[in-house]
Amino acid sequence: MSLPGEKIVVTGGLGFIGSHFVDMILSTRPGRELVVLDANTYCGSRRNLEAHAGNSKLSIVEDSVCQSETVDRVLKGAGVVVHFAAETHVDRSISSARPFFETNVMGTLNVLESCRRHEVRKIVVVSTDEVYGNCSESATESDTLLRPASPYAASKAAADLTARSFFATYDVPVCIVRPVNNFGPRQYPEKLIPKFIERMIAGEKVPVYGHGGNTREWLYVKDTCRAILSLIEHFSANVVGEVFNIGSGVEKSVLEITGSITGLLDIDGENVIEWVDDRPAHVERHRVNWNKIRRVTGWEPIFDFEEGLKRTVSWYMEHRGGEYDNWW
Ligand SMILES: NC(=O)c1ccc[n+]([C@@H]2O[C@H](COP(=O)([O-])OP(=O)(O)OC[C@H]3O[C@@H](n4cnc5c(N)ncnc54)[C@H](O)[C@@H]3O)[C@@H](O)[C@H]2O)c1
Repeated sequence: MSLPGEKIVVTGGLGFIGSHFVDMILSTRPGRELVVLDANTYCGSRRNLEAHAGNSKLSIVEDSVCQSETVDRVLKGAGVVVHFAAETHVDRSISSARPFFETNVMGTLNVLESCRRHEVRKIVVVSTDEVYGNCSESATESDTLLRPASPYAASKAAADLTARSFFATYDVPVCIVRPVNNFGPRQYPEKLIPKFIERMIAGEKVPVYGHGGNTREWLYVKDTCRAILSLIEHFSANVVGEVFNIGSGVEKSVLEITGSITGLLDIDGENVIEWVDDRPAHVERHRVNWNKIRRVTGWEPIFDFEEGLKRTVSWYMEHRGGEYDNWW
């Protein structure tokens, strides 16, 4: 694989998707120097990378992407930068929007400015399908007008468009990815799937907003990491400056997800739900067209939804409670 330069920098590498991406690089490209830059906020954990303890190729710099001097020092000499670091929870952004704009917009600006200064040759900025807002009849194309419906989504849209502007204005070689909802082990249990798994394991009810019929497209985390790696491997005129949706075609409502988890845990689904007031501007549906990444890199998801969910439930059963409590 061509991963140019001495160093790969992964921001947000102590978080959910970032740590799986680090796993993938260290296991498949063992000779590469990899630096994680992460502020280790409430949703990141050094335990997410404990499998690599003692690996001399991995170093972790614990600081914020808002600290431009740190970002500049870490990115010096990098050949590849994958920028995951972000505030990521929609509900938190509704309670308090400012940290989202500080990290997601200004932090991304710092990363892009440093990439430009140090002439990094391959940059992937991780955006989200949330930037589109509600999906209409057909799956959302990557050139659809952005209509973000939460402060989180708006901050990610600003970061995403800033990245695009750095390509247009300064020729900074960046591509933007917009993945759908990810799930898998090591996701902080405020997001739907891990929250529901943990609550059900604890014998508690799960809160379902509104009517529970809102749907999302779901992708197993390792498939997202494979997609990003496939873009790095195919970095060319077809990738630079482009936006790629990363989807699965697997669309499920909150109630369907609830049913799948109760099934795997063998719990009576009848009384498990606590109905709660809907979130403001709750998006009814996200669904993306991801033909473009398939065409350019050949990537396709390989993990079946039910199989991925089974692995996820197993991980939370094994790793929460007892000696593993306080994972985060
Ligand atoms: N999880 C999903 O379903 C999903 C879907 C689409 C896009 N994304 C995007 O993928 C990226 C990773 O998401 P995730 O689910 O792994 O998130 P996460 O919340 O699990 O991890 C985010 C990581 O960023 C770090 N971080 C937060 N603020 C920081 C700062 N100021 N400086 C440095 N590090 C900071 C956190 O400590 C954490 O380790 C994000 O950009 C997110 O917007 C996520």
